[in-house]
Amino acid sequence: MDTQVAIIGGGPSGLLLSQLLNRAGIGTVILERSSRAHVLARIRAGILEWGTVELLHEAGVGARMDAEGIPHDGCYLSDDSTMIHIDFKELTGKRVMVYGQTEVTTDLYAAQDAMGTTILHDVSEVEIHDLDQAKSHIEFTHEGTRKRLNCFYVAGCDGFHGVSRRTIPDEIRREFERVYPFGWLGILSETPPVNDELIYSNSSHGFALASMRNENLVRYYVQVPLSDTVEDWSDQRFWDEFSRRIPSEAARRLVTGPSIEKSIAPLRSFVSEPLRWGNLFLVGDAAHIVPPTGAKGLNLAASDVYYLYTTLIDALNGKSTTGIDEYSARALARIWKAMRFSWQMTTMLHRFDGEDAFAEQMRKATLSHLAHSETARRDLAENYIGLPF
Ligand code: FAD
Ligand code: DHB
Repeated sequence: MDTQVAIIGGGPSGLLLSQLLNRAGIGTVILERSSRAHVLARIRAGILEWGTVELLHEAGVGARMDAEGIPHDGCYLSDDSTMIHIDFKELTGKRVMVYGQTEVTTDLYAAQDAMGTTILHDVSEVEIHDLDQAKSHIEFTHEGTRKRLNCFYVAGCDGFHGVSRRTIPDEIRREFERVYPFGWLGILSETPPVNDELIYSNSSHGFALASMRNENLVRYYVQVPLSDTVEDWSDQRFWDEFSRRIPSEAARRLVTGPSIEKSIAPLRSFVSEPLRWGNLFLVGDAAHIVPPTGAKGLNLAASDVYYLYTTLIDALNGKSTTGIDEYSARALARIWKAMRFSWQMTTMLHRFDGEDAFAEQMRKATLSHLAHSETARRDLAENYIGLPF
């Protein structure tokens, strides 16, 4: 099999890159480890920066998002005594979109099917070869047979546990990591949202986030110890804990119901540099992970795709290879700023086990500064709605 760009991973990064390349007449083949049903069932991100919204439009997949997504002009940060409103619209002129990652992925699969793109699911034992040659190839197992895909470029869109990053030799790769001592327990429940905008709550009992998918589907989270499992958290225990962590005026409005999904995600900051090695380009979670507190994971994947796709088109059309040479540095400049923001939001809003009284005072002072300084709120809003591509 031959293609111009081989894409490893059929998550949001791989699908969006493929869709944008296909629309420019570039051929792609996507190799995905899981079934489509499995990819579509993974409940993850919920907030799209406006730059991501525009890129999805550019990819021709904006129609359902426009009809069903919910634009949000602000969010709340709170502690036990204060609710701080961050008015994105007033502070930056921009807003974000509530539209789940599962919906983005569904729309992209539909668009790719309409485009006739080859997407192979349930592939295994993927190996990338000849990255330093004019043409590279990938060997993989599909339907019990070992197969070969020849290509000019390889896009490593295979997430944190994928093979692409590990194909780059150890002596070339530099990794930066911070693992946080807690996770987020998230539930989906078919109940009306407790508030019309998101609430990020730093309570004395720990962090909670009230988010949503639509007017009758909520996504709520609580900070939990890493040792906890989903089995430790009955629905009743979740609702009791969540309601004492959100501001009391919101808790009075809380409607509870059965959970339809429940999962725990550990929190981590991670960057692997460089993003390019020979004909291989790392995109999205394959290269970096942010803790979810700033809602940046999916949005960073989209900005990587933005930086890569036009430069791949230029290179493959024989125009210029300057763009692909610059991809790693351009994408990393934005990635590190989102890393900083996500780390800062995480530090400001969570209780760390064993922390000293000084750390607690710093958190309180940071929130108090936000409550009283429009400049501080504007800085937070500018980062939350997304730095320019
Ligand atoms: P992925 O979505 O990980 O997709 C990679 C794809 O590659 C997968 O489909 C995988 O099956 C496939 N793959 C892996 N290995 C191979 C292989 N060897 N061969 C072929 N295919 C392979 N972000 C937020 O903003 N908010 C959130 O609340 C949030 N929650 C999250 C919860 C969890 C549990 C996780 C893991 C992430 C969460 N994120 C969140 C981050 C966000 O979902 C990711 O940033 C986003 O999915 C990145 O997209 P991606 O396509 O780069 O990677
Ligand atoms: C959601 C997840 C986040 O990490 C976040 O910061 C905001 C919203 C969500 O799943 O809706």
